[in-house]
Amino acid sequence: MGESILVTGGAGFIGRHVARALLARGDRVRVLDSLIAQVHPTRTRPDELDPDAELLIGDIRDETMVGRALEGVDSVIHLAAEVGVGQSMYAVDRYTSVNDHGTAVLFQRLIDRPVRRVVVASSMSIYGEGLYRTADGTPMEDVVRGTRNPDGSWDPLDCDGRPLIPVPTPESKRPALRSVYAIGKYVQERLTLTLTAQYGMEGAALRLWNVYGPGQALSNPYTGVLAIFASRIANGQRPMIFEDGQQRRDFVHVGDVARAVLLALDELAANGEVFNIGSGEDRTVEEVARLQAASMGRPDLTPEITGQARAGDIRHNIPDLGKARAVLNYEPRQDFAEGLAELAEWVARQEAQDRVAEARGELEARGLVA
Ligand SMILES: NC(=O)c1ccc[n+]([C@@H]2O[C@H](COP(=O)([O-])OP(=O)(O)OC[C@H]3O[C@@H](n4cnc5c(N)ncnc54)[C@H](O)[C@@H]3O)[C@@H](O)[C@H]2O)c1
Repeated sequence: MGESILVTGGAGFIGRHVARALLARGDRVRVLDSLIAQVHPTRTRPDELDPDAELLIGDIRDETMVGRALEGVDSVIHLAAEVGVGQSMYAVDRYTSVNDHGTAVLFQRLIDRPVRRVVVASSMSIYGEGLYRTADGTPMEDVVRGTRNPDGSWDPLDCDGRPLIPVPTPESKRPALRSVYAIGKYVQERLTLTLTAQYGMEGAALRLWNVYGPGQALSNPYTGVLAIFASRIANGQRPMIFEDGQQRRDFVHVGDVARAVLLALDELAANGEVFNIGSGEDRTVEEVARLQAASMGRPDLTPEITGQARAGDIRHNIPDLGKARAVLNYEPRQDFAEGLAELAEWVARQEAQDRVAEARGELEARGLVA
């Protein structure tokens, strides 16, 4: 018969894919979303939200709305959030209010109206720098990066001045919360796991890497590096990259993320656990920018490497997917080249407003780019 699922933030990029996947297997979906202007410039129901999803327009911090949204619901997928590491470093009040307090309001209501399970979207950003090893193989867990090295390189160094080597980061790595966004994501996952266990519910948290795919908010310059590059390229501008472009990340397709969310909702053994979710393939940001320009038919728009650093940014972070594979049976399926081609095709149908310069100005005005 399926369940009734509340997806908070379900009108957003990931939420729309999750809603579609739930509906496709026979669940009923209610979305609670305030349609924030940064993501939904027209503040109207997005066309890409499946017509079979019920939409309640309301704020996650509004107790009455949350109470209404929870009526008759079996499980909750909590995605509502302000999303942007750089922006969180100056919009402190807004990020903390929505991400931390908003989750507290949700749980305040869940205490009176418990559900079977709550799945929350956490983020790779809670790790800070990923796990590293030294040249002779010693793991380095608490790497803190200063600004650029005296020789102009960017990689963190060991005590002998040799670059540290990034290795896949397991869930057991200690968090290192280096941005307001990361703090909020960690609060969200801890509230979820602590309070579900306390009140007879189940909980699971997914630490998502860089999610991409059709439906990314192209006009939101604060999040989603592929969306930012895509809107630059679509407007005939070269993608701009901080530092030297050799930062390593893992880009995971939104379809794989939606499947992971459903697995986290269903799998008995997921209760009380956190899982890394990525594609299992890491790449440099420069490589990705080149591949994307090529996939959009503009290989001439080579990346502009700015050599500037952004406050709160990390150097390398790539996931160890062993736990998600073993416990959730999660296996990423999307081929990256095909995913980029699909994104390019979707972007070609959008009107991407290039607001990168504006976003950069906001950071520069506050001394958050050096
Ligand atoms: N996209 C990524 O790469 C990524 C990576 C790691 C984690 N996540 C997490 O996944 C979740 C979904 O991200 P997304 O990429 O779909 O972002 P998104 O911005 O497209 O979606 C977020 C949705 O939340 C809604 N929202 C914001 N504030 C709200 C409020 N106060 N009340 C109700 N709704 C509100 C927005 O209107 C939007 O529709 C977020 O929790 C985000 O932190 C995303």
